[in-house]
Amino acid sequence: MPPPVRRKLLASTWIVLALALVLSGTALAGNGGIAPVAPHSPNAGGIRDAYWLVLVITGAIFVLVEAALVLFVIRYRSAGRPREVEGPQIRGHGRLELIWTAIPILILAGIASFVFYKLNGIDTAPARAAGNHLKVRVEGRQFYWRFVYPNGAVAVNELRAPAGRVVDLDITAPANDVAHSWWVPSLGGKLDAIPGKMNHTWFEADKVGVYQGQCAEFCGAQHALMLSRVRVVPPAEFDAWVTRQLTAGASLGRQTFEGACGPCHGVNGQGLIGPPLQGNGTLANPKMLFVLLRNGRRAMPPVGRGWDERQLNALAAYVKKRFSSGG
Ligand code: CUA
Repeated sequence: MPPPVRRKLLASTWIVLALALVLSGTALAGNGGIAPVAPHSPNAGGIRDAYWLVLVITGAIFVLVEAALVLFVIRYRSAGRPREVEGPQIRGHGRLELIWTAIPILILAGIASFVFYKLNGIDTAPARAAGNHLKVRVEGRQFYWRFVYPNGAVAVNELRAPAGRVVDLDITAPANDVAHSWWVPSLGGKLDAIPGKMNHTWFEADKVGVYQGQCAEFCGAQHALMLSRVRVVPPAEFDAWVTRQLTAGASLGRQTFEGACGPCHGVNGQGLIGPPLQGNGTLANPKMLFVLLRNGRRAMPPVGRGWDERQLNALAAYVKKRFSSGG
């Protein structure tokens, strides 16, 4: 049997190797390995650049320090000296100490300057074309995202936005809700949606496409299902959509059901952490349904507090058609 010190060394080597394997698997899972997702807005580009700078510098320091450590362990090992005898004690080296104090200060100052330069304005939209900004109110709610456009149009979980135009986001949560965090990595950094407080961020998507997001603050049982999408479309298509949205009750009803009801009652109303919906009497009675949506009941949060009539009616029509026929 190897002596205790070597046994400990062997065990820790295995633990480190196992950890490295686990972590490398995680790092290489999807999303391009350790790289951030491809940026499609200037502020997301700044975050990506800062990420690479810090990774390269810290990576180089890691390699340097570990290499020096291994070198010193080999070069200055005890070589036959009994374990209980201490090695030679060396005190003080003015120039070396100055150097290893000054270099980290310079590195940190360099990183800080780069970050301040690159990420200046990460949460405030550029002033250019200020009159042409689209302003959207973003509400984080248990467990969905609600978007309100300047013309009063409402959308759930999927934010539609015009390409090449600055979109200003006013991010908040209702007073009776909890904190969430808005995060669409391709379009910028995280920003908390805090009850009663208004936070601001923006994006300017350079390309038509769908960008995935996820609530980034643990907000309750169905936090993991609190996904969001930003669908970037050509500006003319956006303008037509946002106008049409004011009268598109069926689409709003479906979106609201899938976003606000689905996470707890199942996307097919089959029941999940909330009861199944098929044949539920409340769904056929808009008055009772609205009271329930606005006030919640026991474990059910007041998902519909603050909705306008249009959204309430759209959901009522949708669930009535889908669940109250008993079919
Ligand atoms: Cu909302 Cu996590």
